[in-house]
Amino acid sequence: MNEKKEVGEIAADYVKDGMVVGLGTGSTVFYTITKLAQLVQQGLSIKGIPTSLQTEKLARELGIPLVSFKEIDHIDLTIDGADEVNTDLHLIKGGGGALLREKIIAKAADTFIVVADSRKMVDILGSFPLPVEVIPFGVEKTGKYIEALGGKPILRQKKGSPYLTDNGNYILDCSFFEILQPGDLEKDLNLIPGVVDNGLFVGMADVVITLNKQKEIDINLRK
Ligand code: A5P
Repeated sequence: MNEKKEVGEIAADYVKDGMVVGLGTGSTVFYTITKLAQLVQQGLSIKGIPTSLQTEKLARELGIPLVSFKEIDHIDLTIDGADEVNTDLHLIKGGGGALLREKIIAKAADTFIVVADSRKMVDILGSFPLPVEVIPFGVEKTGKYIEALGGKPILRQKKGSPYLTDNGNYILDCSFFEILQPGDLEKDLNLIPGVVDNGLFVGMADVVITLNKQKEIDINLRK
């Protein structure tokens, strides 16, 4: 069973005619976007707003009409993946490097739906190193401040050079091992000069679509 395809396609059922839809990034929401493209071909009228250049390219290739923030005043629904989801539906995101635009587009949406295969579901966040987007200037010092908060930052690399986000920034992948107070850590990290944002999404997901132990679809609503 392809869990990513299963949960990704189900999320497309939430998209209705006339909606502005935030299009997430990654290999799970890929299936949502592909399904939406089929529905658009069959007459569904939506406008997508992409969370990354990668998703923008995919959506264009598949024929989903796109808009930018200049043309809209709100987003009806955003659908995106996650790297970890805890029992309170708090998330770690940014494994694909798109966390900043993802957070902007999730926050702007009336409803934020997360699609996650069962391996992403955890009791405590933190096994997945937390991506933190930082400006290149002073990255060495920024990393020291993150260490003081208990993290072990590693500068993300691509082909032997620092990985650059769509915004021209670096990513520090920070092992915290167990994040017991994600709301506090999200805020503390963002107070560090040089940090643009981090991959903790606390209290943002309205719905998480995953699979339970019996491999049945499991729809979790924020309490
Ligand atoms: C992109 O930066 C991430 O936040 C993705 O949404 C997350 O990594 C999930 O990706 P997959 O669906 O590929 O696992």
